[in-house]
Amino acid sequence: MNKVGYYKRNSLPLEMHKVCIVQKTSILPVEDRVKAIRRAGFNSYRLESDECYLDMLTDSGVNAMSNEQLGAMMIGDDAYAGSVTYRKLSQKIKEIFNKDYFLPVHQGRACEHMLALAYVKPGKLVPMNFQFGTSIGKIRYCGGDYIICLQEEGFDKQSGNPFKGDFDLAKLERILQEERDRIAFVRIEAGTNLIGGQPIALDNMLAAAELCKKYGVLSVLDASLLQDNLHFIKTREEAYMDMSIREITRILSDAMDIIYFSARKLGFGRGGAIILNDEKEFEHIKTFVSSFEGFPTFGGMSVKEMEAIRVGLDDTMDENIIAQGPQFIEYLCNELEDAGIPVVTPPGGLGCHLDALKFVPHIPRNQYPAGALQSAVYIASGARGMERGSIDEPWDDPEVEPYGAMELVRLAVPRRVYTISQMNYLIDRICWLYDNRELIGGLKYDTEGPHQFYAPLNSISDWPEVLAAKFREDFGESL
Ligand code: F0G
Repeated sequence: MNKVGYYKRNSLPLEMHKVCIVQKTSILPVEDRVKAIRRAGFNSYRLESDECYLDMLTDSGVNAMSNEQLGAMMIGDDAYAGSVTYRKLSQKIKEIFNKDYFLPVHQGRACEHMLALAYVKPGKLVPMNFQFGTSIGKIRYCGGDYIICLQEEGFDKQSGNPFKGDFDLAKLERILQEERDRIAFVRIEAGTNLIGGQPIALDNMLAAAELCKKYGVLSVLDASLLQDNLHFIKTREEAYMDMSIREITRILSDAMDIIYFSARKLGFGRGGAIILNDEKEFEHIKTFVSSFEGFPTFGGMSVKEMEAIRVGLDDTMDENIIAQGPQFIEYLCNELEDAGIPVVTPPGGLGCHLDALKFVPHIPRNQYPAGALQSAVYIASGARGMERGSIDEPWDDPEVEPYGAMELVRLAVPRRVYTISQMNYLIDRICWLYDNRELIGGLKYDTEGPHQFYAPLNSISDWPEVLAAKFREDFGESL
């Protein structure tokens, strides 16, 4: 895909699929978009999906399936025990990851729940390159805590560093030395969701796993976003450019004790998987899967989804297919950056991230700049993104409102779902919004905190209506 050249025009990302089933979508007039976001409490989680022209809230469970996946769903074997579907998916996992044991669970956070139950006790510690909400939620639920070991540059929103998700290996080793007895496992997140879907280098992951071996602790890979990360290893990491995606995956997998993933992301399906080689650890985790998820051959997943994941994992090993997401994201980021719009750089996986503190610097942090910008993007385009900032931040102390490490608007790019013309439409609307950014105002809660990330907010003034009036003035009758 990335090797296709053009004769007369600048290169464009090119889809490596043709569409065989479609879902209808439509664009509400701007006045109705204001009503919808007001009704939704300026929180994109509360919008209905048919109010969104482009649903870019997440890439989770919304990736388009192939006709081969849909076909495979029809041959799912629903046997309670001894299911052929379980055997086939186990074989596919063995083929790709070289791991003997596989436990299915209903989604990524269920993997995290099972691993926390199995290894985290009060007082235990989980070092990780960066945190993700569901991962640390389960660790804390079991009485443990986490510690972030991201390299300093990972926190820079604009950077040329191709692997911002890398561990600060010296910090990781220091923690392994000082806290050895408290460590439940080391969690390696590839790619790194909350710093903008940024990848982690294979060499860095191998070094982290090596440190785990040296200090006798388990290495646990969160491979939920591995698909994009594999593409970045192949295209950005010199030593691995000549290797196939399968070879890269195998090197990574062989270094890890346990791998888990949300199959809502990896494998183009809906589900989750824990995979490992150690029979004793497998039996240990299995007891929790039986108690909390389901019989260990389906563990809360539908066998239809398990068949779809089996086929989807093969797609994940196809360089042409996995290049599409990152190339669309790169296109979005580059076009916006060329228009002077602040985005997280370099482009990562998962989605394009707008830097709200730079986009709307006039909105103070206690008026939720990323939340306000996410609402304004919806008003301008009908696209819903996700606030990745203070609204999303959990309240550790109910008395103190936390501010996010970053104030970002994530525009996720579900894999194989949208076309380049839809991306061009979005770029155009964000450019218009940037030129009118001084019209965007802040948000507030009408109630006292602590608030959950999906709680409704209100606009501080009638700025949404003013923004829509300006849209009408500039666009006339058009949508
Ligand atoms: N790990 C990572 C890195 C994730 O990004 C997610 C989900 C999970 C684990 C949990 O997986 O949703 O199947 O339970 N990320 C979604 C997102 C929710 O929109 O970024 P899950």
